[in-house]
Amino acid sequence: MIETHAHLDTDRYDEDRDSVIKNALKNGVKKIINVSSDLSSLKKVKTLSMEYEEVYITFGIQPHSAYEFDDEILEIISTIAKEEKVVAIGEIGLDYHYNFSLPEIQRKVFREQIRMAKNLKLPLVIHMRESFEDTLEILKEEKACDTGGVIHCFTEDIKKGQVFIDMGFYLGIGGAVTFKNTKLLQEAVEKFPLERLLLETDSPYMTPVPHRGKRNEPAFLKFIAEKIAQLKKIEVEEVKEITTKNAMKLFGI
Ligand code: NI
Repeated sequence: MIETHAHLDTDRYDEDRDSVIKNALKNGVKKIINVSSDLSSLKKVKTLSMEYEEVYITFGIQPHSAYEFDDEILEIISTIAKEEKVVAIGEIGLDYHYNFSLPEIQRKVFREQIRMAKNLKLPLVIHMRESFEDTLEILKEEKACDTGGVIHCFTEDIKKGQVFIDMGFYLGIGGAVTFKNTKLLQEAVEKFPLERLLLETDSPYMTPVPHRGKRNEPAFLKFIAEKIAQLKKIEVEEVKEITTKNAMKLFGI
C-alpha cells in the first residue's frame, strides 16, 4: 500500500518517529507521502524525505496558514518543488470551518498555488472543509483538472464525490469511512470505482476504528483498506493493489 497523506513531521511523533515509520513498513505500507501544511513544516518534511527512502513529500501552504503566504514563499516552494521527492503541491484549499485565515485570503492563496502546480506539472492535494461550492468553482476556473489531484479526506456524499470524479480527480479515503456515523460516505465509497480512490490516514488525525481515540499512524492504513473491501464486497488484496496503482500513477512514484 501507499500511504498518500500523513503528517509525520508534527511534534506528535517527536518521541518515536523512527519506530512509527518502521511499524508502517511492517504493516504493508511501502511508501509514505508526507504532506506539508505551513511554512515551518516545509523544512521538516524535506529532512524526513532525505532520511527515509520510503518517504515522499508535498509542498504547500494549507488554508489555516494562508495568511503566511507571500511572494517569497511562492518563490521558495516553486524552487524546492522541482526536487525529485516532491510529488505534489499541498495541502492547499479552503477550510470554512475554522476560518483561521480570512476566506478571501484562502481563496487567493488557493488560486496562486494551483497556478504554481500547473507550471510545475505537479498534482494537487486538496483540503476541502465546509467549502464545496467555492472549492469546485476555483478548481473549474483555474482549470485544475489539467494537472489533476486528490480531494483529501473526502467525507461527502455520492453527488458531491461524483462531481470531482467527473473532473478526473481522485478521492482520498481515510479513517472516517470506518466510523459508525458516516453512512453517506460509506455509500459513496461502495459506489465509486476503486480506480478513483486513494488510501490515506491523515496521521496523527482521523484515527480509524478499532484505534479511534488514539494517535493515528500510517500502520493503520490496513483498517481503511479492509473497510473499503467490506463495503464493496471484494477481497482486501484487490483494494490494496488498485489503490497502490492509482497512487503510483497520480504521484509518479
Ligand atoms: Ni492533512
